[in-house]
Amino acid sequence: MGFAVVDAALERGWKVDLISGPVTLEVKHGVRQTFVETADEMFAACLDIFTSCDFILMAAAVCDHKPALVAKRKLKKGEISSFLELEQTPDILAELGRRKASGQKLVGFAAETNDCLVNGERKLLEKNLDWIVVNDVSLPEGGFASDLNKVTLLGRNGEVVPIDIAPKLEVARILLERIDS
Ligand code: C5P
Repeated sequence: MGFAVVDAALERGWKVDLISGPVTLEVKHGVRQTFVETADEMFAACLDIFTSCDFILMAAAVCDHKPALVAKRKLKKGEISSFLELEQTPDILAELGRRKASGQKLVGFAAETNDCLVNGERKLLEKNLDWIVVNDVSLPEGGFASDLNKVTLLGRNGEVVPIDIAPKLEVARILLERIDS
């Protein structure tokens, strides 16, 4: 959805900064793009530009955990534990929610498989968001690796806006129209 949001933002004449992981998708001319590979890099890149943004839309599926140890050289078979120790990555969205200034609009995305609206609403409140885009990724229509999507927007003032299945660009247009009204 992130790249569809970029296209819809350009249509509205917005100045767009895109922070993304490695992708094969092409970005339109005029977008300032920062490539990152880890959650920590994405966190740093977001903090760099956050205060200059009016709208922040966080569509990346950021890993919640990372390996606790990263070897600097190839490890021998006998040196590797059978258990992979993990630690949490920074919750970028929650941190931006804590730092948000009045006038900034922060939008999160929630990819859910069960109790979607309940889980989405909890994240909206816990992370101090203005809107959250709830995506039931267990549905066959739309979601990852598809040009279509079917989502529900939840707003901090109790708004519930179901968007029926549509091309991602159309979903992104409706989303931006709604958060900018
Ligand atoms: O809790 P969950 O991972 O479903 O939250 C999804 C939202 O949080 C998305 O907007 C995603 O970009 C953001 N996120 C984040 N930092 C993380 C994990 C997710 O900002 N470490």
